[in-house]
Amino acid sequence: MAPSNTAADITAASEWAALARAAGEMQAGGVDLAGLFAADPGRSERCTSTVGDLVIDWSRHLVTDATVELLLALAVRADAPARIEAMLAGEPVNVTEGRSVLHTALRSRPSDEVLVGGVDLAPAIVAERERTSALVRALLAGERRGATGLPIRTVVNIGIGGSQLGPAMAHEALAAFRTGGIECRFVSNVDPAALAAGLAGLDPAETLFVVVSKGFATAETLANARAARAWAASALGAEAAGAHFVAVTANRDAAVAFGIDPDDVFATWDWVGGRFSMGSAAGLALMAAVGEENFAAMQAGMRTVDEHVAADPLASAPMLLGLLSVWNRNFWGAQTRAVVPYSERLRLFPVWLQQVIMESNGKRVRLDGSPLSCESAEVVWGGVGTDSQHSFHQLLHQGTTAVPVDFIVMAQPDPDADGEAAAERHESLVANCFAQAAALAFGTPAETAGDPHRELPGNRPSTVILAPALTPGVLGQLVALYEHQVVVQGAVWGINSFDQFGVERGKTLADAIVADLRNGPPTSEANHDPSTKSLIAHYHRLRGQ
Ligand code: F6P
Repeated sequence: MAPSNTAADITAASEWAALARAAGEMQAGGVDLAGLFAADPGRSERCTSTVGDLVIDWSRHLVTDATVELLLALAVRADAPARIEAMLAGEPVNVTEGRSVLHTALRSRPSDEVLVGGVDLAPAIVAERERTSALVRALLAGERRGATGLPIRTVVNIGIGGSQLGPAMAHEALAAFRTGGIECRFVSNVDPAALAAGLAGLDPAETLFVVVSKGFATAETLANARAARAWAASALGAEAAGAHFVAVTANRDAAVAFGIDPDDVFATWDWVGGRFSMGSAAGLALMAAVGEENFAAMQAGMRTVDEHVAADPLASAPMLLGLLSVWNRNFWGAQTRAVVPYSERLRLFPVWLQQVIMESNGKRVRLDGSPLSCESAEVVWGGVGTDSQHSFHQLLHQGTTAVPVDFIVMAQPDPDADGEAAAERHESLVANCFAQAAALAFGTPAETAGDPHRELPGNRPSTVILAPALTPGVLGQLVALYEHQVVVQGAVWGINSFDQFGVERGKTLADAIVADLRNGPPTSEANHDPSTKSLIAHYHRLRGQ
């Protein structure tokens, strides 16, 4: 039976109270990770999960078998497995917008049915995949040319948020898999410096812009797209410039009205959230860079995790990891989660994940609009190891706030790294990752601390995700592993993880403010708060206006 559109207050459940008691007892008793390992030789093995190629060691969380049982009972009480099944079945689980949430369908097998309200979406998904691949093939073969007949050498993705973060992260992560045929750049910020950097050194005649915007109404994206078109038109002429633009959107009419040829408009759908859309045509620029086979391999990696979750949501790795984040957040008071890939190429992973977790679960009311009575999403932040060790790890080890950390590391160096010398440095990279997780968990050995300044308290939780190598498939698995955790968190808290009304108010205010930046200082009647009026006045003064 499908779960309802309301969610009872999970903090009133007996399972919540049992977890609160368990955490209280551990805190009062001074739980000791070293002791937990010493008392239980099988802990490492039992507390390591695998999905696809990923080995996920969660043994350094402050949990016992009994805690895990309680967390799973909480998930059942919250109807989390049924909510996940409802999402996968295309039910309108985005209740505030009345939409299905089917990013998993983007990476389904061509033979899979995707039935929503009796309609099979699969043919449209497959057709769009084929159109996108055909464009990429034509670009790479030099068959799709610019208006002057020159082949396209650079694809510039213009989009922001979910229309940029995932593809840009993956483009960086899969640098070793780029075909070299097409260079790919990403422009998101409305800061003119962003487009200027994105266009630097490019020849308009050899450049194709992909305007990615689900709604085709995002001010930053449209402003950048208009500026890019003016740049192209100044070299090629207005009509010819049009041939250098394609769009990916769920708002086809707006893209056509913008001047994009209907044959060059690629679809995404209202049942794909922007932050979950990188497996769709929103990844067109990424596909142009790495080729359709690598893109398909990334989708297959996502599918591996989707199928793992679908087979048994309650027993899945994302369920466990999502529940551990609830444990840390709600029962140990963790306000943030650090994500530290020991992989230079995953440097954008924490940035991508910030939107996936915080835009999804940064919510304060439940599905029915009643206020949450517990904390929701943690603040997500991070950076790459080993650099981060020389930046923020001091706080992780000895600061007054405990921050759960997700470490991500590959057994193999990137395939394009340089031989034996690279292998040695890679060993050092992996060793540092393992060492950080150990130091967080076990602190300083008693015999060496001696002095409170030198003492590391330990007992700080972390997860280590180890994969064979940063391949397209592994990247896809990592992406889906985190996407599903978000759904688990949201289901437990009883919130809608799939809307983002919090970002709308700022957009409306910016529209009103920009008018007064353009037209001169606001009059006393202008409808701004006093502090905004004051800032606008300073702005005009600094501009000599
Ligand atoms: O930041 C708000 C948001 O709506 C995100 O959810 C979305 O990824 C981004 O803006 C871009 O939206 P669009 O793809 O419609 O341009």
